[in-house]
Amino acid sequence: AGLGGPRLLAQHTSTGAVLRSAVPLPAPFQLPLAIPPVLEPVAQDDFADRYEITAREAMAEILPGLRTPIWGYEGIFPGRTVESRRGRTAIIRHRNELPVPTVAHLHGGRTPPESDGYPTDLVLPTRGWDHGHHGMHDPRASIARGSREYIYPLDQRAALLWYHDHRMDFTGPAVYRGLAGLHVVRDDEEDALPLPRGEREIPLLITDRAFAADGSFDYPSLDPSLTTVPGVTDAYAAGVLGDVVLVNGVPWPVHEVSATRHRLRVLNASNARRYELALDPPPPDGPAFVQIGSDGGLLASPVAHDSIALASAERHDVIVDFGRYPVGTEVTLVNRLGTGSTAQVMRFRVTRREPDDSAIPPRLSEVEPLRREQAVVTRDFAFRSGRHGDRRGWLIGGRPFDTGYVAARPRLGDVEIWRFVADLHHPIHLHLAHFQVLSRGNREPHPLDAGWKDTVDLQPGEAVEVITRFEHYRGRYVFHCHNAEHEDMGMMATFETT
Ligand code: C2O
Ligand code: CU
Repeated sequence: AGLGGPRLLAQHTSTGAVLRSAVPLPAPFQLPLAIPPVLEPVAQDDFADRYEITAREAMAEILPGLRTPIWGYEGIFPGRTVESRRGRTAIIRHRNELPVPTVAHLHGGRTPPESDGYPTDLVLPTRGWDHGHHGMHDPRASIARGSREYIYPLDQRAALLWYHDHRMDFTGPAVYRGLAGLHVVRDDEEDALPLPRGEREIPLLITDRAFAADGSFDYPSLDPSLTTVPGVTDAYAAGVLGDVVLVNGVPWPVHEVSATRHRLRVLNASNARRYELALDPPPPDGPAFVQIGSDGGLLASPVAHDSIALASAERHDVIVDFGRYPVGTEVTLVNRLGTGSTAQVMRFRVTRREPDDSAIPPRLSEVEPLRREQAVVTRDFAFRSGRHGDRRGWLIGGRPFDTGYVAARPRLGDVEIWRFVADLHHPIHLHLAHFQVLSRGNREPHPLDAGWKDTVDLQPGEAVEVITRFEHYRGRYVFHCHNAEHEDMGMMATFETT
C-alpha cells in the first residue's frame, strides 16, 4: 500500500489551512526575478527539434542560505523553457533519474495519445522499481524504463504551454517538489503584432510553497491507513497551500523595468492556490492590465481588467504599461486572495525612461466562436467530494479516477457542450481539446473567460458550460480537476476520442 491506486484516497493530507514554514521567511522584494533558461535542442532537422530532459534530484538555494532538495527537470526549478514554432515537431526524450516513476505531460499541447502522458504511462526509474508493485491495475498502460520519447507535433496556435509531472495519484507531491517548466509556442501571426518582446516579454510562473525546518519543501503526507479516520479528508478540501510565494522559483522577487509596456505571461503553477493579481499602486489612469491572451493563445481582441484571477494551471497573457508610472515608482504585484505573506507576489521597480514602439492592436487574432447550435451532444459532469466505498475523495459523477472507465467517447470532428457543476472551487482541465466558455452560472461568461481555454475555474455551486470541437487524434485522454490534491484523490476521468 502507499504506492498508488485510486483507492488510496487521501494518502496525503493537510490542515486545509496555509502551511506555515518552520524557517524564518526572507524580507520580500530583495532577490532579483530569475527567467528560466531556454532548453537548447540536441539535434534539429527540417521538421523537428529534438530535446532531452532529465528529471533528477538536486539541491537548490531558494530561500537565502537554506538548502532545499528538489526534483527538477535538468535539476532546476522551474525547468528550462522549451521554445517551439507552430508546426515544428518537438521530440523530447524525458529521462527519469528520480527514485520514483514519472509521467511527463505537456499541458495545453495537442498531442497524440501515446505522448500525452496518460497517468499510468509511466517512465520507471532506471533501476529498482518493480512496476508490478505500483498498484494501478491498468492493462492498457504503456510502461517504459529509464526514459521515453514524447512526440509533440505542436500544430497549434502560439501559446504559453507548460510541462509537468502527471503520475496517477502522485502529481501533487511531484510537481510540488519542482517538476514543472514552460513551453512557449510561437507563430507568424503573433510575431507580426507589435507586442512588447525581448526583455519586455516576461514569463511569470507563480507557485506557493512551505519550507520545513531542514530546508525541504513541506508537503504533508499521511499514513494511508489513517484515511478512513472521519474528518481527515475533509481537512484536505483546500489542497496544499504554502506561505511563500515563488515567481520563477524566487521568493517575492523584484524586477527593474523601463517605463514602457511589458508583456507578462502569467501561469499559476501552484498545486491549489488561487490568485487575484492587481497592481499596487494602481496606475493613475485606466485599468491595470490589458489581457491579450489566455490558455490557448491570443484573444480576438484585447480585454481590460483591474485584476486578474487565476486558478491552478490557468494562463493569462497581459500587457502592463509601466509608462503610466513616474520613474522611481515601486509597483507591487499583489494577490487580493492572499493574507499576510501570500498577499504579495513580486515587485516591479520603474527605473528609467526608454523609447517604446510597442502597441496593443485592437484586433489580435482570429478566434472562431463555436455556437451552441453546432453541438451534437451535451454531457454533464458533477465535481464533488463524496464517499466511494469506505473512503472519501474527490469524484467526477460520483466516481474516483478509474483507468478502466471511459466517461465520454466523443467523435473526431464533433462539437460538444460539456456542462460542469461543482461543490467548491475546481479548476477543470481537458487534455487535447481547447474549449470556449459558453456560460457561467446560466449567464454570460466572465470577461476573463474569453478566448481558447484549456482550464476553467468552477466557482462553488456554479454551473459552467464549455464548448469544444474534438479534433486531431484518436485515443484516450483525461480531464480532471487541476487542484493537484483533488486530482490525486480521484477527481479525474478518461475520455476517448473515436
Ligand atoms: Cu496540467 Cu492533466 O494537466
Ligand atoms: Cu478540485
